[in-house]
Amino acid sequence: EDDKYEEIDEREKQPNYEQKKWEEEQMHSAIYRFGAKGVKKEEDYDYVFDEQIEFIQALQIPGTKELSLKEKERTVSEAQKKRMDLDETKRSLPIYPFKDDLIAAVKEYQVLIIEGETGSGKTTQIPQYLNDAGFTADGKKIGCTQPRRVAAMSVAARVAVEMGVKLGNEVGYSIRFEDCTSERTIIKYMTDGTLHREFLSEPDLQAYSVMIIDEAHERTLHTDILFGLVKDIARFRPDLKLLISSATLDAEKFSAFFDGAPIFRIPGRRFPVDIYYTKAPEADYIDAATVSILQIHATQPLGDILVFLTGQEEIETCQEILQERVKRLGSKLKELMILPVYSNLPSEMQAKIFEPTPPGARKVVLATNIAETSLTIDNIIYVIDPGFCKQNNFNSRTGMESLIVVPISKASANQRAGRAGRVAAGKCFRLYTAWAYKHELEDNTVPEIQRINLGNAVLMLKALGINDLVHFDFLDPPPHETLVLALEQLYALGALNHHGELTKLGRRMAEFPVDPMMAKMILASEKYKCADEIVTICAMLSVNGAIFYRPKDKIIHADTARKNFFCPGGDHLVLLNVYKQWADTEFSTQWCYENFIQYRSMKRARDVREQLVGLMQRVEIEVVSAEGDSEKIRKAITAGYFYHIARLSKGGQYKTVKHNQTVMIHPNSMLFEDLPRWVLYHELVFTTKEFMRQTIEIESKWLLEVAPHYYKARELEDSTNKKMPKVLGKAKAELQVVN
Ligand code: CDP
Ligand code: MG
Repeated sequence: EDDKYEEIDEREKQPNYEQKKWEEEQMHSAIYRFGAKGVKKEEDYDYVFDEQIEFIQALQIPGTKELSLKEKERTVSEAQKKRMDLDETKRSLPIYPFKDDLIAAVKEYQVLIIEGETGSGKTTQIPQYLNDAGFTADGKKIGCTQPRRVAAMSVAARVAVEMGVKLGNEVGYSIRFEDCTSERTIIKYMTDGTLHREFLSEPDLQAYSVMIIDEAHERTLHTDILFGLVKDIARFRPDLKLLISSATLDAEKFSAFFDGAPIFRIPGRRFPVDIYYTKAPEADYIDAATVSILQIHATQPLGDILVFLTGQEEIETCQEILQERVKRLGSKLKELMILPVYSNLPSEMQAKIFEPTPPGARKVVLATNIAETSLTIDNIIYVIDPGFCKQNNFNSRTGMESLIVVPISKASANQRAGRAGRVAAGKCFRLYTAWAYKHELEDNTVPEIQRINLGNAVLMLKALGINDLVHFDFLDPPPHETLVLALEQLYALGALNHHGELTKLGRRMAEFPVDPMMAKMILASEKYKCADEIVTICAMLSVNGAIFYRPKDKIIHADTARKNFFCPGGDHLVLLNVYKQWADTEFSTQWCYENFIQYRSMKRARDVREQLVGLMQRVEIEVVSAEGDSEKIRKAITAGYFYHIARLSKGGQYKTVKHNQTVMIHPNSMLFEDLPRWVLYHELVFTTKEFMRQTIEIESKWLLEVAPHYYKARELEDSTNKKMPKVLGKAKAELQVVN
C-alpha cells in the first residue's frame, strides 16, 4: 500500500493516447536537456526568447509546431508584460522597504541573522539585493542553501525569471546528482548537503562573497553542521559575509551561537487566522481532510486551500479520493484544482502550484512539510492540518533507522496555521482536538542532529580533517551514543582505523554523495569486479523505488509486467534487470509505457548513473561488468550493507541478526513468496509493521568474508536465541582516542 503509484491520467482513455504521451515526453525531455544550457521548466517556457524558440524548433520534435512571426512577437510581448507584473510583485514584498537598510547592515557586519515571516521575500530577494549592491562584482558568487531540493530548484527558477536570465546561467542551482550552474553563475541556490560537499573541494569557500544559510530554523543535520563550519571559516575569511536566515523565533539562539551577531528583523504582514479544532479525535485523517476540503469548497468564500500530509503516497491517495468525489458531485461545485507538492515531484509539475488560480476557481494544494516554510504559495486562505509529518528516526540503541509518521510540534502547528494569514484573514482547521494540541504536542521539533544516523555527517567531517567531533562547535550537540554508533559503523565499514582516523578507503568513500553503506558497496564493486552493475543498482535505489507504475484499473497487468522482471537473487537484481532491458531498447519511452515502468524515474536513474560513473573515474575504479555472475554483485552489496541482515524465524517473520528485531519482507518484494533463510535489506519502512524494502538473498558465510571484524562465525550459526555479541569494544576505545 505504500507503493508509489503514479496518478492515472484521464487522457489515457483517449484515442491516440500513446502517441500523444510520447510526444509530450519528448517535449519535456527536450526542454529538460535544453535546460542544462538554459530554459529548464514549463514555467520558463512561455518566457522564451527567440533563440530558444529556434532551438526547440531545431530539434524538430513531433508535436512542436512551427511558430509564425506573429506568434513569436506575441510570445515576446507577453514576456514583457510578465516582466512588468513581476517588478510590481517584487516591490510589494514585505522585505522591499528594507532593501537599503539590509544592504547597509550586510556591509557593516560580517555575520547577520535575518528573521522574517515565510513569504516575506528572504530567499528570492536577498541574493538579488546583494547582487545589485555589488557583492558579485569581483567575480565571486552569492550562495544560498536550502534544506530541500524542490525549494532550491523552484526558487532558483523563480529568481532566474525575475532577473530575466536563463536558469543555469547567472542564476542556477545545484542539488545532489544535478548541477544546473555554469561559469557565469553569480547566484547559486543549493541544498545544504551540496554545500557540505563543496567544503571538501574548497574548504574556505573562496568562490563566494556571501553565503546565506537559509531556512535555518529547519535545523536539518546538514544545516546544523554548516553552522559550525561557516562560523569557523568566517574567522579566517573576514571578507566573507554570512547571513543566517530563519522564519521563526530561533533568532536569539542563532545570534548567541554566532558570537552575538546582530538580528535583522523584517516586520511581517500577518492577518488574523481563526483556528478550529475537531471535537473528537479523527480516526482517519486523510478521510477527514478530504471531507474538510469539500466542506470548505462548498460553503466558504473563494480562496485557496493548503493541506499538510506526510508524504507522496498519502498525497496521491487523497488526490484520488478527492477527484472521485468531485467527479460525483459534478457541476454542483465550482472548479476545484487539485495540486500535489512533494519532494520527488517532477520539476515540470512544480511550476503549476505557483500559477495563479483562474477567476471563479479554487485551488487545493496537497503538500508535505515542504509548504510549512520552504515554499510560499500565494493566496492561501484555508489551511487543513492533520497534525502529522514523516520523520526519519534512528534508534541509537539498535542502530536502526526508519521512516515513521509522528505528531508535529506546536511550533510546526503554528507555522502551518500562519500560512493561512499571509494575504488576508484566514482559517486553519486542525484535525485534532484542542486538548491534544495542548497536552500531546511537544513545543518544538527535535533537531535532526539529535535523532538521525550520523554516519554520513561524521564521514564528511573526518574527510574535512575535523577529528575531534566531541568538541566540534555544534549549535546543539548530538547525543553521545549516536556519535559513538556512527564512529563504530564507519570503523566496521573500514572507513576509519582504530585511532578514529580516516583510512584510504574512507577517503574514497567520502567522494560519493551517498550514505556510507552505499559508498562502501560501490567501492567493494572494484574487488568483486561488478562496478557496472553496482552503479546501476545504486542509481535505481536512489530514485526511491518509484520505478514500477501500477494504475488502479490495470493492477493485474502491471503486476504481471513487474513479475516478468523477476530474476534469481532478489530485488536489487530485479532493478538491475529493468535498467538493462531499458538500456537495450536505447532508453525507449514506449518500452517503459508497455512494461508499466515510470519513464521519469528511469530517466533520473540514468542521470544519477552517469554522475556515479564520473565519480568512479575520479577514484579510479574501472566500470567493469560481472557478466551475469549474481554472486559477485550480491557480495559487493553485502560488503556495504552487512548491517542490514535478517534471518528467517518463525511464521514467515525475520529477525535482524544483531538486535533480534522482528521485521518482514515487503509484499512487493520478489522474495515475498520465497522467504530465503538469510536476507539483506536496503531499508526499513514502518507502516503497519516494520518492513524490509528491497531485499536480496545472501549466504551467511559471505558475512565473514566481507565483514570479518563485525561478524563472528558463531552468530551466524543457525540456532536461535543468541546473546548480543560484544562488538562495541573497539569503537568505544576509539572514541576515547578521539576525546
Ligand atoms: O523566503 P521567504 O519565505 O521570505 O519568501 P520567498 O520564498 O522569497 O517568497 C517571496 C515571494 O515569491 C512569495 O510571494 C512567493 O509566492 C514568490 N515565489 C514564487 O512565486 N515562486 C517561487 N518558486 C518562489 C517564490
Ligand atoms: Mg525562504
